[in-house]
This record gives sequence, C-alpha cells and structure tokens, in this order.
Amino acid sequence: MGAFWLVFIVNIVMASLVQGQGSGLQNGFYSSSCPKAGAVVRSTVESHFNKDPTIAAALLRLHFHDCFVQGCDGSVLISGSSAERSALPNLGLRGFEVIDDAKALLESLCPGVVSCADILAVAARDAVDLSDGPSWTVPTGRRDGRVSSSSQTSRAHTIGQTDCLFFRYRLYNFTTTGSADPTINQSFLTQLQSLCPRNGDGSIKVGLDIGSETKFDVSFFKNVRDGKGVLESDQRLWGDDGTRRVVENYAGNVRGLLGLRFDYEFRKAMIKMSSIEVKTGSDGEIRKTCSKINK
Ligand code: HEM
Ligand SMILES: *[C@@H]1O[C@H](CO)[C@@H](O)[C@H](O)[C@H]1NC(C)=O
Ligand SMILES: *[C@@H]1O[C@H](CO)[C@@H](O)[C@H](O)[C@H]1NC(C)=O
Repeated sequence: MGAFWLVFIVNIVMASLVQGQGSGLQNGFYSSSCPKAGAVVRSTVESHFNKDPTIAAALLRLHFHDCFVQGCDGSVLISGSSAERSALPNLGLRGFEVIDDAKALLESLCPGVVSCADILAVAARDAVDLSDGPSWTVPTGRRDGRVSSSSQTSRAHTIGQTDCLFFRYRLYNFTTTGSADPTINQSFLTQLQSLCPRNGDGSIKVGLDIGSETKFDVSFFKNVRDGKGVLESDQRLWGDDGTRRVVENYAGNVRGLLGLRFDYEFRKAMIKMSSIEVKTGSDGEIRKTCSKINK
C-alpha cells in the first residue's frame, strides 16, 4: 500500500475533532427504506475489485477528496469543466464507474432513496476491507450537495499508486541543486530512477507504498522510516518530530499489536472523516445520477 494512510490519520484525526458528534447520521439509516443498500454496494465494489484490486485505493481516495471539499456530500462525483472533479488536485481520481454502477442498481431497487454521498462512504469502507484492512460501521443518512466547487486537499497512502510526474523532480535536480532529494534512501533512489527515467514517460505508475501497494498494512510506515516514501509530502512525515513519533510507533517491531492499533485508529479516523460537514434531513437532495445535480 502507499504512504497515503499515515498522513491520512494524522491529518484527519486533527481536522475532525470538531466533527463527528451530532452529525445527524445514524447506523442503519436505510434499514427500512432500502434494506439491501449495503449489500448492493458491497457486491458492486467486490465485482470491480475482483477484476482490478487497485480500484480499492481509488475509491478510498475518492471518498477522502469528497469529504475535504465542502463536506462528504458527493460533490466530487459531479462532472463538468468547472466542477470539483476537474480541479487540479482531483485529476487522476478514479472509480467513478463503481459508484455509478451501484447507484444504477439502487435506483432500480429503491428509487430516490440512497444518496451518492452514502454510496461513496460505504464503498470506501468495503474497499479497505477487501484490501485486508479494518472494517467499520458507516453511519448513513447523508444527502447530496447541489453545488460543486473546486478546491484543494488530499492525504491516505498505504494503498494506491502515483505517476512519475508527481515525484520525478525529487530524483534528478531537486531544488535545482543538480542532485536528488537527500531524504531518499540511496538504494531506493536507484530503484526509482530506473522506474522513472529523467526524460521518460511521466504517466508511469509507481506504488505509494512500494512492495505492498494493494495491501492495507503498516508497511507504509516502515518505508517512510527507511527513506522510501515516494511522495515528498509522505517522506516529510519523518522529518518532523511529532509525525516521526507516529511513524515510529506504527512501524514498530511488535507487529501484531501495532498493526491492530493502526487499524483501530484508522477506523476511528474514517468514521470521523466520513461525517465532516454532511448534509442531512431536508438539506441537499438525493441525486438520481451521481454525476449530475437533479434538474
Ligand atoms: C495533504 C494530503 C495529501 C496529499 C498531498 C496527497 C497526495 C496524493 C497524490 C499526489 C497521489 C497520487 C495521485 C496520482 O498519481 O494520480 C495520491 C494518491 C492517493 N491518495 Fe493521497 N494525498 C493526501 C491525502 C490523502 C488521504 C487523507 C487519503 C485517504 C484517506 C489519501 C488517499 C490516497 C490514495 C488511496 C491514493 C492512491 C489512489 C489510486 O491508486 O488511484 N490521500 N495522493
Ligand atoms: C538543475 O536545474 C537548474 C535550474 O533549472 C539548472 O541551472 C541546472 O543546470 C540543473 N542541473 C542539472 C545537473 O541538470
Ligand atoms: C535504506 O534501506 C536499507 C534497505 O532497506 C535499510 O537497511 C537502511 O536502514 C535504509 N537507510 C536509511 C538511512 O534509512
């Protein structure tokens, strides 16, 4: 998996302390209005995952980007040139078709009932679970936003991949010194340089958590400890005293125990993140198609 996850925890836990309670969400929101909702999302995610396990990382990232731009209201799913989906930090987002498939099935089963924002939150949970990560109960009852906005943000890297384009500047002429980023482990530098030649194709994909890209685990933290974070922002977790302690803890040798702790904290962080600025009750709407606000 990628370096994605650690940063995720640190940032999300902090950012969401103000959230969570009193969000208006509840467990089992669809238990009478659409009792099969959870099972439909699960089987849809599973059938995509069986064809392409990298879809799990994409779904997690999609949910994260949704929540960090005006709340978890499905706005990241809206298409159009001025939409959030086209904003620079959102390029490379994938997995829209999984949400669209689940939505189509749910509209035939329970029309106008299940929000795109809830489908995405549940799909992200199922994606982590299918990657051997922790599972948790997703409180539901989100409604979809009617506005799409473009804005910055992102962070969760123990699964997933990135393009050479996003980190090649670290490999050859970092900050115009003529040499590589000194925080990169020497042997790893050689490996990255051969994966991403100086004038090679920028769209070549490299795992964010090299050696463990499709497993949700603590290998990401060991990589960061060893100077093997792919993104500069991930490697910087080792440069700061506070975040270094977190990395050391998760990367520690008492494997089972610390693995469990990471899973435990990740679960809590996800539940908090998934309730950031949600719309409930009579706010927002239930979109018919996830890529478009209702007419
Ligand atoms: C400030 C924080 C963050 C930054 C700067 C950041 C940056 C990035 C970048 C540059 C990529 C590669 C995109 C590409 O090559 O197309 C990426 C991928 C990814 N990010 Fe983040 N990220 C952040 C936070 C998060 C958080 C909080 C999560 C999860 C909760 C997350 C989950 C992921 C995942 C799963 C991928 C892989 C996606 C895939 O394989 O398609 N990121 N991130
Ligand atoms: C690195 O970049 C700087 C600024 O663009 C340039 O002047 C220098 O020649 C480059 N060095 C190498 C080794 O490419
Ligand atoms: C670089 O990687 C090697 C092999 O994984 C590891 O043994 C070593 O401790 C790393 N070096 C640093 C400075 O982290």
